[in-house]
Amino acid sequence: MIEVNFSPEVDLAKSDQIIKEIARDPFGGWLALPKKYDMGEFIRIKEAAKKINEESEYLVCIGIGGSYLGHRAIIEALHPHSETKIIYAGNSLSKRELDRALEKVGDHDFSINVISKSGTTLEPAIAFAAFKKKIIEKYGEEEACSRIYATTDRKEGALHDEAVTAGYTCFVVPDSIGGRYSVLSAVGMLPMAVAGIDVDKIIEGAAEAVESAVEPATKYAWMRYELAAKNYDTEVFASFEPATMYFNEWLKQLFGESEGKNKQGIFPASVIYSTDLHSMGQFMQDGRRNLFETIIDYPTDETNQKVVKAVRVAHVEGGIPVLDIKVPSFDEKGFGELIYFFELACAMSAKLFGVNPFDQPGVEAYKKELQRLM
Ligand code: PA5
Repeated sequence: MIEVNFSPEVDLAKSDQIIKEIARDPFGGWLALPKKYDMGEFIRIKEAAKKINEESEYLVCIGIGGSYLGHRAIIEALHPHSETKIIYAGNSLSKRELDRALEKVGDHDFSINVISKSGTTLEPAIAFAAFKKKIIEKYGEEEACSRIYATTDRKEGALHDEAVTAGYTCFVVPDSIGGRYSVLSAVGMLPMAVAGIDVDKIIEGAAEAVESAVEPATKYAWMRYELAAKNYDTEVFASFEPATMYFNEWLKQLFGESEGKNKQGIFPASVIYSTDLHSMGQFMQDGRRNLFETIIDYPTDETNQKVVKAVRVAHVEGGIPVLDIKVPSFDEKGFGELIYFFELACAMSAKLFGVNPFDQPGVEAYKKELQRLM
């Protein structure tokens, strides 16, 4: 069970009301997801993962933002040893990066999982076009289509339409789950299963958190709100495990996109210690006091735990509010729990700030402008 070391003033009635609002929201589907998992879809995911593992040395995962960061975070953290290696593409518009990914796949056997809820995002669309050309050249049209897996909207969008016409295997991003809350759906489950992650355990951890995370997530949301009211406008997520760098990236997207609207929100930043003590340590200890630090305290070895203690003491002395989130285990169950905890805390925080946790008008504005320029 996730534990926290702070006790803000919590308005319990308001918290209950917020959770009810989230459950009723058309984009609140992730709240009950771990308990109401579509087992039919889950079996199809596992079967697809088995087929990919049997016939491919590489799985090219194409997607950006919420269609990419969550599963990458868990795969990089747990570093499973599957024969099939995952290559990420379509998460930037750099031609150099795309060429590198194409080169890395080279003549190896591969499959593609293209992930886009809207089916129209430019970064994955460009990468998909390049890899589709490669897979068709290598295997011919018919076999290529059997090696392409599309995770997208149930009924509409350019990717959905193409997948139906070409006969790709399709997985659904549920209507009620937006990009950054989608890691526990097919979006994250297929790449994780291919990588060798025990996806049953991820769901088990998340399902337990449906009840156990409510209290700590509520405290965390109210603590953040209290600190923001005292002009702490930046939150630094601190981890002492380098393998969790992408988990920090996932967190920044979750909080940044959910809260940062109507001139509200806390700016999310991140560090990995002890590495960043030698670059950001000075600022954390003694720089401008507008930030607070949230330590994600994963179980680690004894030496690392001493660093955690030292940092906590030094930074509190330096005048930084330090919040501690204790993660029960560094495994699938632990990450399932942690994801659910942060999703819930984030949606509650956004509601406390009076903004909609589930839209992203700023991102849509960028997407529209880019499409116009292209
Ligand atoms: O959280 C979000 O909604 C965004 O980060 C999206 O996931 C991201 O923009 C990718 O969108 P799509 O899955 O439609 O390609």
